[in-house]
Amino acid sequence: MSDRLIEALRQTLGDRGVIDAPSDRARYEQGWRYGEGVARCVARPASTAEVAATLRLCAEHGARVVAQGANTGLVAASTPDRSGAMVVLSLERLNRTIELDAAARTVLVDGGVLLSQLNEALLPHGFWFPVDLGADPQIGGMVATNTGGTRLLKYGDVRHNLLGVEVVLGDGTVVSMLNRLRKNNTGLDGKHLFIGTTGVFGVVTRAVLQVAPRPTQRTTALVACRNGEAVLGLLQALERDLGDVLSAFEVMGQKALEAVFRHHDLRRPFAELPAYSALVELSSTLPSSALALDALLEERLGAHAETTDDAIEDAVLGSGEDFWALRHHITESLRSDGDVLAFDISVPRSRLPAFTRDVAALLARDHPNVTLTDYGHWGDGGTHLNLVWPKGAVADRQALVTTLQDAIYPLAVERHGGSYSAEHGVGPHNQRFYDRFADPAVKRLCRALAECCDPGRLLGTVRLD
Ligand code: MLT
Ligand code: ZN
Repeated sequence: MSDRLIEALRQTLGDRGVIDAPSDRARYEQGWRYGEGVARCVARPASTAEVAATLRLCAEHGARVVAQGANTGLVAASTPDRSGAMVVLSLERLNRTIELDAAARTVLVDGGVLLSQLNEALLPHGFWFPVDLGADPQIGGMVATNTGGTRLLKYGDVRHNLLGVEVVLGDGTVVSMLNRLRKNNTGLDGKHLFIGTTGVFGVVTRAVLQVAPRPTQRTTALVACRNGEAVLGLLQALERDLGDVLSAFEVMGQKALEAVFRHHDLRRPFAELPAYSALVELSSTLPSSALALDALLEERLGAHAETTDDAIEDAVLGSGEDFWALRHHITESLRSDGDVLAFDISVPRSRLPAFTRDVAALLARDHPNVTLTDYGHWGDGGTHLNLVWPKGAVADRQALVTTLQDAIYPLAVERHGGSYSAEHGVGPHNQRFYDRFADPAVKRLCRALAECCDPGRLLGTVRLD
């Protein structure tokens, strides 16, 4: 049966611009972790004008649209629902512009440019975009989810590094806010509407980013900590003594590392895995002749360990690559281990040990077959609790997921003053908790904004109102 929207899209975007065969659509319909649906078709515009034309056509036909970047998100916000009625708007062909202004230290990029592609282009100029993570997302998707990553402690998240955006609203209106200035206090800074709001107010087609000088030296250590309090003590000591050069502070729980070693033949840093291994990274643009980071880190760690009554059990300095490989293999090792329910929570840093203990106690009491595996960005209060149980061991997976979410999110938000989504944004995976925890006044505001930006309510798979 012919579909008039698909025909109109094909006329506007050409054959390469539209995919409707089920086998070709499949990779756009499945998220990396959560999210699996059916698309009416995939539209692949190659310019802002084509994105605008696509959204105009979809609005005319009353078709709902989900914008999709590299589809590496973790809350199911970039895949269509199961209705078969949604259009996936893939930005993958909008990936040509990377215009660096070296003197201003800013870059204008298309929304579909991959993070790796941007960093490759910046490398010869001695710059990088320092929002750094294991996956390789597109810049537009990073804006929509306000990506944090592993070096947020030093460089901040996307919001801190984004100067301007161009977006297309639900009716196809192009809004250009491509500010290139670091200082510009001339009224509403509208870009913030589109940062971290998961594409419900508009589709990001271009962005102006500030880039950072690439460090010329890095040094890394893995520090064995007896418990969460020892981790926090270490973090505070490092910030006090080395705050200017501390660029990452990631933490891996014992069970998380055990999983990595079960599935990967990687070098073990410690004979016995401690309760927590903290990955500490220092970096600087100064040459090592001016600032010897290796020596500095070794000396500071030694001095701190002496004050801790053996709570710091051991420390190894070594190749950053080896340590980061451990960190980046956790997620997929856990998936090989069993069925996983992932949480992306943040609490005030001081509450990380107490929050984790509360979750452990809850599981021991109510779900003894579920293993708590934790790791994450303790430097910025982020913890990824991954709950794992043997594949096939649970008859009704969804019921268990609901029970665990209903128990753990309120613990984070209500008891420990935390967030149920620290860095992965809001999507169908956690919509229920947005509905429950978002302030009604904020929802009313979102409703008013959606009226302006997307009156037909065609964009995205979540509701913020
Ligand atoms: C990470 O920090 O590794 C990711 O954000 C966590 C994940 O993949 O669940
Ligand atoms: Zn993370």
